[in-house]
Amino acid sequence: MVGYKTKMVERISLPAREQRERNLEEAGYNVFNLSSDDVFVDLLTDSGTGAMSDRQWAALMSGDEAYAGARSFDELESAVADVMGFDHVVPAHQGRGAENVLYGTLLSEGDVVPNNTHFDTTRAHVANQGAEPADCPVAVAHDPSASEPFKGNFSLERGRELVDEVGPDRVPVVIQTVTNNSAAGQPVSVENTRRVREFADEIDATFVIDACRFAENAYFVQQREEEFADASIADIAHEQLGYADAVVMSGKKDGLVNVGGFVATDDADLFEQCKQRAILYEGFPTYGGMAGRDVAALAVGLREAVEREYVADRVEGVREFGELLAEAGAPIYEPPGGHAVYLDAGAALSHLPDETFPGQALVCELYREGGVRGVELGSFAFPDTDRPELVRLAVPRRTYHREHFEHVAETVETVLEKREDVRGLELASEPEMPEIRHFTAELEPV
Ligand code: F0G
Repeated sequence: MVGYKTKMVERISLPAREQRERNLEEAGYNVFNLSSDDVFVDLLTDSGTGAMSDRQWAALMSGDEAYAGARSFDELESAVADVMGFDHVVPAHQGRGAENVLYGTLLSEGDVVPNNTHFDTTRAHVANQGAEPADCPVAVAHDPSASEPFKGNFSLERGRELVDEVGPDRVPVVIQTVTNNSAAGQPVSVENTRRVREFADEIDATFVIDACRFAENAYFVQQREEEFADASIADIAHEQLGYADAVVMSGKKDGLVNVGGFVATDDADLFEQCKQRAILYEGFPTYGGMAGRDVAALAVGLREAVEREYVADRVEGVREFGELLAEAGAPIYEPPGGHAVYLDAGAALSHLPDETFPGQALVCELYREGGVRGVELGSFAFPDTDRPELVRLAVPRRTYHREHFEHVAETVETVLEKREDVRGLELASEPEMPEIRHFTAELEPV
């Protein structure tokens, strides 16, 4: 048996109700504008918000800050080789930095890029190269009640349709995102990864895995894919990532650090090209925008992420949080994903028309009622798409405990009891780029 005990604590407080009301109003009903000191349980994201282990903190102290040839880079290289199976690593300041390096190298104007579902920054980086991002989720991905094991899978049918439509020459890259963050953090089977590898071979494309949550995905594979029931998390992760030509990684998720990322590959040519671009945008290729100490902590975090006890505690903790919410009467996306539980705001606040942003209204109520911060991933964040009105409650790694999750569940229960009183919202001001409006737009009650 392995578990954790706490060595350092951080005080959190719940502001009085009137203060929360004022905070919401001053934030323009956009919780990105709240000060985190005013948030009691912060479930905005699982990215860079987790707690590092004592071993990671120890690694910070021995980080090598040399501009070139840093020992910490050697540690990262060897962790990536052992855990993910790639010989070459190009570090970056975080996932989107790595996306810029990789997609800037692989893509050009007019390309079309299939992905099970593009995360926002992936979509933006593909588009930034003049290429067109195309989502290929399986049909059940956006059905909150379908209880299938791998709702994050890449639809090969859609991928092939796309290639038939635009021609293979326009599709130089195929991406698979594990787990599928934009489809409620749902996992991808190894079988599906094998099929995507074949698909990429058929059209002579580079196969990239966005590996942000690769360890959580490996845990689901062990639980749900019969072939892997007796395999270790480390072996599953190694096998799944091994089908890709390159991985793009945000260390802020399953790297268990607060900042950092990288591209990894076995392809020597691709490595050289990425390295050159990284020098331009990130930094010298043995630190890539990170401090040496952060590189050192990431090397340790990657190894910890595939320890069974860690990842079982992590994913089962999220599942139990989902159970608490369901018991509180909340309609949730089933089954919960690896890093978050998603509330179906369309079902919870069915009296609110879609144009009054039921998801964002629910986000605001959770803060008003219990100082809880989640994030809307429905029609406010993704205008002009027909996604369900979801609210993501993302769980930072190794940070919150059962009493925090109980507080959130009680908050949700109270909000649902008063649901008829919840008012919708309308936009008061909007920035120029609609793709990222949810970070800064302001709203007001209808
Ligand atoms: N890819 C995926 C699947 C992600 O979820 C993220 C970040 C990135 C790439 C970019 O990584 O933040 O290190 O630059 N997702 C965070 C989230 C922000 O809240 O889901 P980054």
